Amino acid sequence: MEVHPSGRVSDLKMADRAGLMARIEEMAESIRNEAGKPSNFLVVTHFDADGLGAGAILCKALMRLSVPFHIKVAQGLDEEILGEVSGSRYDVVIFNEIGSGYLDLIGGIDFRGRRVMIIDHHQTAGNLPDGIMHVNPHDHGFDGSKELSGSGIAFLLSKALDESNSDLAPLAVVGALGDTQDIGPKRSLTGLNEEVAQFAASIGSLEIREDLILYGRETRPIHRALAQTTSPFLPGLTGEEDKCLDLLASAGIRVKEDDKWRVLADLDEEEKQRLLSNIIKHLSSRGIGGELALELVGKVYTLSRERRWTPLRDGREFASLLNACGRMGRPGLGISICMGDRGAALEEANRTLAEYRRSLAQCMGEIYSNPGRVRELREAFVILGEGLIDEGMTGAVSSMLSSSGAFNSKKVIVVSTITKRGEFKISARLSDRSKGLGINLGSILKRLSAKYSGQGGGHDVAAGAQVKMELAEEFLRSLDEEICEAAGTHAS
Ligand code: C5P
Ligand code: ZN
Repeated sequence: MEVHPSGRVSDLKMADRAGLMARIEEMAESIRNEAGKPSNFLVVTHFDADGLGAGAILCKALMRLSVPFHIKVAQGLDEEILGEVSGSRYDVVIFNEIGSGYLDLIGGIDFRGRRVMIIDHHQTAGNLPDGIMHVNPHDHGFDGSKELSGSGIAFLLSKALDESNSDLAPLAVVGALGDTQDIGPKRSLTGLNEEVAQFAASIGSLEIREDLILYGRETRPIHRALAQTTSPFLPGLTGEEDKCLDLLASAGIRVKEDDKWRVLADLDEEEKQRLLSNIIKHLSSRGIGGELALELVGKVYTLSRERRWTPLRDGREFASLLNACGRMGRPGLGISICMGDRGAALEEANRTLAEYRRSLAQCMGEIYSNPGRVRELREAFVILGEGLIDEGMTGAVSSMLSSSGAFNSKKVIVVSTITKRGEFKISARLSDRSKGLGINLGSILKRLSAKYSGQGGGHDVAAGAQVKMELAEEFLRSLDEEICEAAGTHAS
């Protein structure tokens, strides 16, 4: 039995930590060898917050090895992208936070003698092709959708490459939060994610404590932060800035310091306590129990070396910024910020976040006001996003619908759209009420998309797929049937 750095006895079941670390060390050794030649590296990474964090971690580690590298950001892998990669001039290709779900596809590509490595935390699908190095926590008994993010495993690799990469640990925490792996008690990270967070804390670059969690705790005026908090959804407050201002006034909390709006992080403990009591009072006047407000209290991860009043200081805000950069087609901006760019880049990222939020709000407004966009199946609500939801935004809309308890139902949320290449794309999420029913969306979509000659997969609670447009109807019908089966209900 192992003892955790925090003193807790490891509860990582039958997970084979030594096996995972040995694979990571092997990959590090191979990268060091290639770096010594020196080889040209191409890093292919995923476009979401965790993918951008993981990409930045790996690139920073390569930069410190003084090797030439390029990074390519992908929404998913297909023959076209893999064709480009195999035709490129790089000696080494590392698929990072993407790839494990595409083993057969990757196996069908002729990489013409290049060294190919995959480091990922998504569920594995297909057979590992000969000659390709693969590191994935799932292969060693760790659940990559809960216990270790893509940025987390990229961090372990970078640390194995050189101890001086220890300073990248906070980025691994940002990635895990971006991948909503904060599913432990009080929204804490668990498993290896928690160990990485504890490590970051031990070197003084992260502060972990229990506190109020509002959207934008370092950057937004408090009433706005409260109004923009959707998880949990607070009736009478979420979306209602004026009501939030009233609540702050009745709690006796000053909203400005001189001429500057105060943010949640500026409040002292006693003020935060008063704020929470007043939220509880507000909810109980509407007949809602205090437990809902207590969901606002949880683990806050503060990047202590980042400047105050910037979105990079709070792990969740940092992750939102990356997410926005990725989804709005500006992944390079997100990566460069992770790698240390500030100033104009940060301003640009803030603008991108504002644009992203506007676009998300517009999508949500249209979905709520136009019932024609929602199709109810036996076990799923399908939101028809064609002409409204950009292909990079389906996941964000789907996540927002599920976290805000939309449709108040146990059904799975499926957001669909048509991609620029004319394919049918979906992003599926379990609602809070359907978690625990034993539905694994990642494996359902992996299987179904293969059956319909498309691509799909992901995690148990959040997954996506793409198939040809003409198969969309049948694909959705089969998906509904599969969910019925998994949930133990039966399609008629
Ligand atoms: O695109 P979306 O946000 O819905 O993706 C949810 C999860 O499913 C992500 O982790 C993504 O990597 C995975 N996914 C996948 N294959 C696809 C689409 C999504 O593995 N074709
Ligand atoms: Zn990802």
